[in-house]
Amino acid sequence: MDYKNIIITKESGYAILQFNRPEVLNAINMQLMTELVEALENLDKDDAVRCVILTGNEKAFAAGADIKEMADASAIEMLLRDQFARWDKIRKIKKPIIAAVSGFALGGGCELAMTCDMIIASETARFGQPEINIGVMPGAGGTQRLTRAVGKVKAMEIVLTGKIFTAEEAKEWGLVNKVVPVEYYLQEAKDLAKEIASKPPIAVRLAKEAVLKSFDTTIESGLEFERRNFYLLFASDDQKEGMKAFVEKGKPTWKGK
Ligand code: HXC
Repeated sequence: MDYKNIIITKESGYAILQFNRPEVLNAINMQLMTELVEALENLDKDDAVRCVILTGNEKAFAAGADIKEMADASAIEMLLRDQFARWDKIRKIKKPIIAAVSGFALGGGCELAMTCDMIIASETARFGQPEINIGVMPGAGGTQRLTRAVGKVKAMEIVLTGKIFTAEEAKEWGLVNKVVPVEYYLQEAKDLAKEIASKPPIAVRLAKEAVLKSFDTTIESGLEFERRNFYLLFASDDQKEGMKAFVEKGKPTWKGK
């Protein structure tokens, strides 16, 4: 498929998916979202890809949903667009997704970064949920994911004031993994992707699934879920290979089986 709003680059073991609407600070319109979800679903099926990086450019990861596309819509038009169905599909991607964020990650851009599994930020990254300033509120998970990441009082402050916060603050509050100078943020995300790509893929997949499970279950059923995934890994060749290599002081070769 010929994409207009995203650029895909495949490296050894991982892929980079870059938003490509620089003239509007990568504002997320429906076409971009459609392309993004289709590309992610294809990469999820590609055995050569073990991890995906989502990124924008130095100036903007994404400055939110495309306001011009929504400004005149009625509630029923918004309902019929069903745009969040696309967002829900990102949650179903099995491979780890790293957001490499520089510049603005606002509104839907911040929500998209939070939908990813990890976030690497440049020192110049700026996060926020400024929807309140245009008469709405977060709609793509902001009130839920931000609250789980930073806690109630901070999330309230961010969502109710629309204030923009820095990468350092985001790190201090547990929203991002690492903050690095702007010239290194993509390289840092690549290094993380490479490291994850070097791990046994089925264990990575089941571990990601179990961590995500913790968001929508009780501790009791979460522990049960984790245990089943743990047992399941003993059916993989990679478990036998990994433990044998440890015992024999060798180096494992992963088959992804
Ligand atoms: C559409 C946008 C946009 C957006 C920027 N642009 N953000 N277009 N939707 N979210 C466009 C501008 O209109 C402008 O186009 C160009 O990008 C450059 O932006 P400027 O405003 O000139 O840049 P600057 O002065 O540097 O200010 C940067 C900014 C500001 C602070 C990020 O652009 C801004 O406040 N953007 C909106 C942020 C926001 O409210 N996001 C939440 C959206 S709602 P022209 O044609 O004028 O050059 C949302 C809901 C999510 O995300 C839930 C559903 C998915």
